[in-house]
Amino acid sequence: MKKRVAVLPGDGIGPEVTEAAVKVLQVIGRRFNHTFDIGFGLIGGAAVDEHNTPFPTETIELCQTSDAVLLGAVGGPKWDQHPTHLRPEKGLLAIRKHFDLYANLRPVMAVPSLLHASPLKEEVAKDVDMLIVRELTGGLYFGEPSRHNEKSALDTLVYTREEIERIVVKSFELARLRRGKVTSVDKENVLESSKLWREVVEEKKKLYPDVEVEHMLVDSAAMQLVTNPSAFDVIVTENMFGDILSDEASVITGSLGVLPSASLGRDGFGLYEPVHGTAPSIAGQGKANPAATILSVAMMLKYSFGMETEAAAIEEAVNTVFEDGFFTADLASPGDRILSTDDWTNKVVYELDLQSVCNSIMFTYN
Ligand code: IPM
Ligand code: MN
Repeated sequence: MKKRVAVLPGDGIGPEVTEAAVKVLQVIGRRFNHTFDIGFGLIGGAAVDEHNTPFPTETIELCQTSDAVLLGAVGGPKWDQHPTHLRPEKGLLAIRKHFDLYANLRPVMAVPSLLHASPLKEEVAKDVDMLIVRELTGGLYFGEPSRHNEKSALDTLVYTREEIERIVVKSFELARLRRGKVTSVDKENVLESSKLWREVVEEKKKLYPDVEVEHMLVDSAAMQLVTNPSAFDVIVTENMFGDILSDEASVITGSLGVLPSASLGRDGFGLYEPVHGTAPSIAGQGKANPAATILSVAMMLKYSFGMETEAAAIEEAVNTVFEDGFFTADLASPGDRILSTDDWTNKVVYELDLQSVCNSIMFTYN
């Protein structure tokens, strides 16, 4: 297969982790006979510096002519004082909105070899396997903001029935491929938009009698995530709640540095990015954990290109490297040897090569 991938490294550790992920993508290409044609573009602070906008036309065109987008991260202290329209984060919101990437999938799965780094007790964290489905193009992030004066400011939270329907249906479809349970998270006891949200979930669930549905208030969900996280299968929620809960859930696995995400629209097109941010304090030092971005490439292969075997190969290689006790600084225990971003990536590449050697030996003997 031939696919064109737009790579937008962004700011901070974005360039390092995307470089690692592209390397892995090319290894997959060689091994499985695919051609991945890579085009690089600017987004976020890097784009503000070069083009005075966080989402330049060149980048839009690059993405439009690509089959999927891989993004590093955006933001950093350098641009903190910029006016709102020149903030790097605006670039991320703009690309999500431009391509109508309403469904943000953030899987959180416990990995036995990383449990030592989890802030939760091992018995609480060990069976965690959930998928957070965050609505990504509506709600507070895209309301009409206004700053009245020195003393007051306004944000608006709007959801239409249609916006809620499509994300809820997506979560039911995804639950069918997993353990068949959806927890819909809202603030129905206070917010009008949450009342509409709950109404839609109740209506749509009639079409999915095989899916178990529960409603949970967001404050209670925040608590359950640390007391009984393995009870969750699919969580579906609005934009802001999903942002907060996914950061909370991510550390269950040991580090924010291992969580990938996919942002999907109606067709196969998708934007893939690590859940973590730009980590300016370690940028450019080869300390970043590239696992989340490498696993985001696995999600790209699976969701945009239908390459399940290739995606599984990456996941297996990453897991083996962890099992063999190789970690970047965020996951290392005292006394462990700490690997650099490059060295850790090379371990993954080595595992991928080893898998293919093993497969061909098995083929010869069968
Ligand atoms: C995320 C990030 C973004 C968000 C920021 C950088 C705008 O935190 O992808 O979770 O809030 O959506
Ligand atoms: Mn976030």
